[in-house]
Amino acid sequence: MTTHQFPPGFLWGAATAAYQIEGAATEGGRGPSIWDTFSHTPGRTVNGDHGDVACDHYHRIKDDVRLMADLGLTSYRFSIAWPRIQPTGSGPANQAGLDFYRRLADELLEAGILPWATLYHWDLPQALEDAGGWPARDTASRFADYAQLTVDALGDRITHWSTFNEPWCSSFLGYGSGVHAPGVQDGAASVRAAHHLLLGHGLALQAVRATTPSARLGITLNLYSMGAASDSAADADAMRRIDGLANRFFLDPVLRGEYPADVVEDLAPVTDFTHLHDGDLATIAQPLDFLGINYYSRHVVAAPEPDAVAKPSCWPGSETVRFVHRPGVPVTDMDWEIDAPGLVETLRKVAETYPAVPLYVTENGSAFVDKVVDGAVDDPERVDFLDQHLRACHAAIEAGVPLKGYFAWSLMDNFEWAWGYTKRFGMVYVDYETQTRIPKTSARWYADVIRRNGLAA
Ligand code: NOJ
Repeated sequence: MTTHQFPPGFLWGAATAAYQIEGAATEGGRGPSIWDTFSHTPGRTVNGDHGDVACDHYHRIKDDVRLMADLGLTSYRFSIAWPRIQPTGSGPANQAGLDFYRRLADELLEAGILPWATLYHWDLPQALEDAGGWPARDTASRFADYAQLTVDALGDRITHWSTFNEPWCSSFLGYGSGVHAPGVQDGAASVRAAHHLLLGHGLALQAVRATTPSARLGITLNLYSMGAASDSAADADAMRRIDGLANRFFLDPVLRGEYPADVVEDLAPVTDFTHLHDGDLATIAQPLDFLGINYYSRHVVAAPEPDAVAKPSCWPGSETVRFVHRPGVPVTDMDWEIDAPGLVETLRKVAETYPAVPLYVTENGSAFVDKVVDGAVDDPERVDFLDQHLRACHAAIEAGVPLKGYFAWSLMDNFEWAWGYTKRFGMVYVDYETQTRIPKTSARWYADVIRRNGLAA
């Protein structure tokens, strides 16, 4: 018997990103990106891991699409590597790069899987970083050119496009804490980066709509449910600050054309916002065909200790705010709290605050320590994680949230950025020595969900 039946046509997907799976870092005319540079710099990633080979997906698209078809996926979300299309970040398209994604899209379409492309999943061409990177305004225009050229070339096959994946990470981890490429630690630069990513989104939407009006366009934000460590006013204020920087600093400009006033005030010691030009917010707030939400965990926030000293951080202006766990709440191998009710909360809040935008969960998933035993990988915790979060999606739909699809992160184990290959998020296990793929129990379980369009009773 099936319970929790999803609406007809609900999209069932899995997601990946170019640098995390493709490998073939120097093939097909691909130029270097900030992640090549960063991961090859000693001390930046665990074990010095890098994406030179990764899952070797570049050479295995046929097999990997067959895996997706076996799961019954109705959509696959992947990203396009900008440095494959424009090796130095500007100028004419590199044919070999376009051809690779054409072949991938064709394989998907042949298998009845809707291709869903992200234009930027963190791999900025190194040449653009050398010219100032995201803190430089011109990078936004370079991105719009790249977006237009790419959608122009591939829009006959690929209909759904996210401009950016998680601009919070690109700006605040990339230029604030420096935990991600390019590894810069400069609060003011991180806020400028955030603005130019958002501006790039708006400019790209304008440019693409002008040349490919049929394209369905949106953006993917990483959103968090929020809790305060106690009911003290100080903890509540710490939570407001983090909710501001993590959620509202991106949602409000994109969906309302304004930066949240309280966050601008919190950021006063960091930046005077002179990088914000007249008309920028109107450009950023282009009408969207969808909003993608990546949801993983809850932030539980506490006020700073009285003598806390600010260090470079991904929370500019709020560096000393503390993050805690609720006692007894299970965490994943990333030490992230598992909070499925928080997904219902997040979806409902977004739908209420910014109505009339179709929503997709463009990522949701968990890392656990997986072991191969007799050629199989049993991952009951991941099954439980997915089950809880799909129940949450169902509850949100019942409550009236216009949620149209769900993409599990990830199709397969891959390069988890600063964590290298030490964290496994896949529903399919990857043996990096042999490139063997082993569908885990969670993959079989997800296939059953898709087949039923609901959960087994
Ligand atoms: C979000 C990012 O989009 C993805 O690249 C990453 O691997 C997952 N979160 C897990 O951390």
